Amino acid sequence: MFSQTSLSALLAAVTLLSPAKAIPAPLARRDISADVLAKLYLAHQYSAAAYCPNNNDNSSSKLTCPTGNCDIVQADNTSVLTEFQNLGLADSTGYVALDHTRSKIILAYRGTESIQNFLADASFPLVPAPDICASCHAESGFYSFWRASKPAILAALDQARAQHPSYSLDVIGHSLGAAAATLAAAHVRNTGSHADLYSFSSPRVGDPAFARYVGGQDGVSGSNYRVTHRDDWVPKAPLKAMGYLHVADEYWISSPNGVNVTTSDVVVFEGYEGEDYDGGNAGTEKTDPTFQTHEWIFDKITLCYPKGTIE
Ligand SMILES: *[C@@H]1O[C@H](CO)[C@@H](O)[C@H](O)[C@H]1NC(C)=O
Ligand SMILES: *[C@@H]1O[C@H](CO)[C@@H](O)[C@H](O)[C@H]1NC(C)=O
Ligand SMILES: *[C@@H]1O[C@H](CO)[C@@H](O)[C@H](O)[C@H]1NC(C)=O
Repeated sequence: MFSQTSLSALLAAVTLLSPAKAIPAPLARRDISADVLAKLYLAHQYSAAAYCPNNNDNSSSKLTCPTGNCDIVQADNTSVLTEFQNLGLADSTGYVALDHTRSKIILAYRGTESIQNFLADASFPLVPAPDICASCHAESGFYSFWRASKPAILAALDQARAQHPSYSLDVIGHSLGAAAATLAAAHVRNTGSHADLYSFSSPRVGDPAFARYVGGQDGVSGSNYRVTHRDDWVPKAPLKAMGYLHVADEYWISSPNGVNVTTSDVVVFEGYEGEDYDGGNAGTEKTDPTFQTHEWIFDKITLCYPKGTIE
């Protein structure tokens, strides 16, 4: 953690000493520990499981991945509390489950190919997000994705917390589901819950007031793990120039598709101004025009989606 004063001083110094085009240095940039890598890997498995229809339609009572890409979670003693699918115009889909082996409550959202409709809509209207903070604004499509799931997930979370008050809460999602997870985590923290947020390949969700508010929750009412992969174009949208800002902290994975991720392949950028630095996904020079780096993090996260891909 750091103080705003020292950050301002650092940014002022960097601006004075550097050529005009230089991007300010991050407050802290470092490799991650094996413990953090294991947390990200586990969260990736819960997130991959959200793409399996059997974990969206109440047909199974525990989390399983017929595609074989959630072996750790599948070996755990899990029980599903509720599954939801196709809620609202944006197809909000996912589950709330208990992992008794790890004493966790999991809320996970899958992505959908409608991410492309959102990102093709160049206007990216911001709407007030008063359930996050009074001055917060979020992208209207992402906000409606979260709102469509809100009654079902809040009821399931209340039930889970009443039954298992000692369990910790992880809120997880990929792509459009990562945007929903960011909103959901921020909201449930406001209701007094501690929640860790794992967002994979998220677009920017809201305006700077939103990003700073959710960034300010990091280390206070939970940790933010915003995981990005190489030059994936989804986290580069909507643009900062359109009034958007990412939530800190970013965990940027540099390994190519098909290569196992090690601790030295992940760099964490810490700080409330989630992306004002030279590095990470936003700092990659080119932009992957395909969905290849979007759908692969530790492995192909969308493998269980009936279409096999959200392209
Ligand atoms: C799953 O069951 C819950 C609780 O009965 C229900 O509210 C929810 O609508 C069901 N979901 C689906 C996708 O059928
Ligand atoms: C799974 O955990 C639940 C809750 O603690 C327990 O009641 C159940 O017996 C466990 N099941 C197995 C197979 O261990
Ligand atoms: C990646 O890790 C998996 C599981 O630990 C292992 O089975 C596989 O051989 C590894 N792949 C490579 C290319 O090292």
